[in-house]
Amino acid sequence: MNPKLDRLARRIPILKEIALLREQNRFLLAEVRKLNETLRSLLSQNPALQWGDERQTTDSFDFQWTHLPEGRWLTSDPEFMRQVAAQVVEFTALPADWFRGRRVLDVGCGTGRYTQALLSLGAHVTAVDQSASACRRTAETCAAFSERLTVKDLDLLQWTEPADFDLVFCFGVVHHTGRTYRAIRNVAAKVRPDGHLFLMVYGFPTELGHFSELNVYEDLREELRARSAAEKKAVLAQRYGAELANAYFDAVSPKINDLLSLEELREFLQGLGFTGIRCTVRNRNHHVVARKTAPV
Ligand SMILES: C[S@@+](CC[C@H](N)C(=O)[O-])C[C@H]1O[C@@H](n2cnc3c(N)ncnc32)[C@H](O)[C@@H]1O
Repeated sequence: MNPKLDRLARRIPILKEIALLREQNRFLLAEVRKLNETLRSLLSQNPALQWGDERQTTDSFDFQWTHLPEGRWLTSDPEFMRQVAAQVVEFTALPADWFRGRRVLDVGCGTGRYTQALLSLGAHVTAVDQSASACRRTAETCAAFSERLTVKDLDLLQWTEPADFDLVFCFGVVHHTGRTYRAIRNVAAKVRPDGHLFLMVYGFPTELGHFSELNVYEDLREELRARSAAEKKAVLAQRYGAELANAYFDAVSPKINDLLSLEELREFLQGLGFTGIRCTVRNRNHHVVARKTAPV
């Protein structure tokens, strides 16, 4: 829609309703297309599609952290890094002085923007990621805090080793694994009794703006789906500039981007024995804190 019409539509109720239906329709068509593809694959007794998507998503992140590690909202962005510790405090709803000496796990750490924030707040941090590039960059980014940092290159879906962290911090990870519930269960298992969990999970769209945003990504995914990661990077850098290329690549290159409703997430966490489940930030994505019930 042209921007003028779009602005008008947001002010006039009937036009807003029509715009919502239009965006919902586009979104549903994209969802149905994906379901069709998965079904076709299962019906042909060839689950390679799902496996292929998991492989593609893993490789996409590794490419991203190897060849596109810089940009806005990343460790190379001084403005972002100046406020990232305050962001961690806001996300977790824990006071800044709570972190000193605590044992914190940063699951799916990427290049370590939140790892660094957690370290700067005084925590002992274990940062894990299945991308070797992510692990290497996190160790480099956080070199000044190396005596309080452990970095592990692992797949959280296969991580069975018991652990009992005071806080498990997991931003933007579980919805990219292809097995979201298993990922949440594994991450939640690393929280000690009475400890804290913070998850940022992609939310299922409910409002016009959500559908519009996701449809931009769906269109880009479809346009770029047959391109190599290097070609995607080149197109996105040319279209959005070097500073935003990472953010767009992150949004559209991984094939697996599961979207959950808040109530679905709440029910699942309750089932795992968490209480005090609430959102600390209001937007489409769920920034959820929860506390693991201590045994009585
Ligand atoms: C969107 S990035 C978020 C990175 C970081 N949390 C941040 O906010 O900057 C998702 C990260 O999760 C990692 N990841 C995805 N699936 C994973 C898995 N099964 N085990 C470990 N890490 C995984 C990816 O390699 C990637 O670095």
